[in-house]
Amino acid sequence: MKIIKTISEMRDYSRELRQSGETIGFAPTMGYLHDGHISLFKAANSHNTKAVVSIFVNPAQFGPAEDLSTYPRDMEGDLEKCAQASVDAVFIPEAREMYPDGYSTYVDVSGITAVMEGRMRPGHFRGVTTVVAKLFNIVMPHKAYFGQKDYQQTVVVRRMAQDLNMVTEIVVLPTVREPDGLAMSSRNAYLSPRERAAALAIYKALSSARDLYGAGERHADALIKKVREVAKSEPLVELEYAEAADAATLAPLGEIGGKAVLAVAARVGKTRLIDNVLLGAA
Ligand code: PAJ
Repeated sequence: MKIIKTISEMRDYSRELRQSGETIGFAPTMGYLHDGHISLFKAANSHNTKAVVSIFVNPAQFGPAEDLSTYPRDMEGDLEKCAQASVDAVFIPEAREMYPDGYSTYVDVSGITAVMEGRMRPGHFRGVTTVVAKLFNIVMPHKAYFGQKDYQQTVVVRRMAQDLNMVTEIVVLPTVREPDGLAMSSRNAYLSPRERAAALAIYKALSSARDLYGAGERHADALIKKVREVAKSEPLVELEYAEAADAATLAPLGEIGGKAVLAVAARVGKTRLIDNVLLGAA
């Protein structure tokens, strides 16, 4: 497995692969890898002849009061996991090479970034789309892999790729969960044992609403009320938002007609977690 630390080395490697007819599958990450990340690496591997992973805690997507400095890191363990997943190359750029003095260019998707995570975390998606665009230019992947866990991120990245005529195909894979249902997240590492137990209420709330949908309920209000009720049963969980939106446009819905997403953000102690389920999915 190649470990690549500079932009020029990464570009050279990708260029050579492309010239020799290889296809590149790419999974961008911020590290502290878990089975959710690994599922992306495996898909990148099986759909392409080469799999490239990046590990970069992107300062541009963290707000001033957010957890950039404490974001969990374990480079040694991460590299081990990449090797085990048969990743061909890991790109680990330095923040000062990604954002040198004088750096001035940002990619900003409008509209769909104004709701949900975008509303709670101003500037977050501008940081995400900027780094993803840069990584696509450096890695030049044929396909790039993202998790449904960060649902809005997948919609925003797809929009960017479409609007800017990027050649990389965006592939979205299902959320990988702990055996009890909690969505895997690097931030789960922040949870105390009591908080970890409480955090399960997030998925329970979403599942209860999905069951209600399965029983025929189509009013978004009723589904959201269900999410709030179940989440409330766990005092350590404080919902930030619960929203039902059109799965493609993220427009808020009154009635669920076609494919929709039910998305929540919650604080469990100091830790902020997000999760979602799809409704009306094929
Ligand atoms: P990170 O949180 O490390 O996630 C990297 C990728 O793994 C994202 O596509 C995310 O949706 C996916 N992922 C995380 N948890 C998952 C789970 N439980 N199941 C399936 N996929 C999961 O998302 C980011 O980093 C950053 O914003 C990034 C795209 C790398 C840009 O900096």
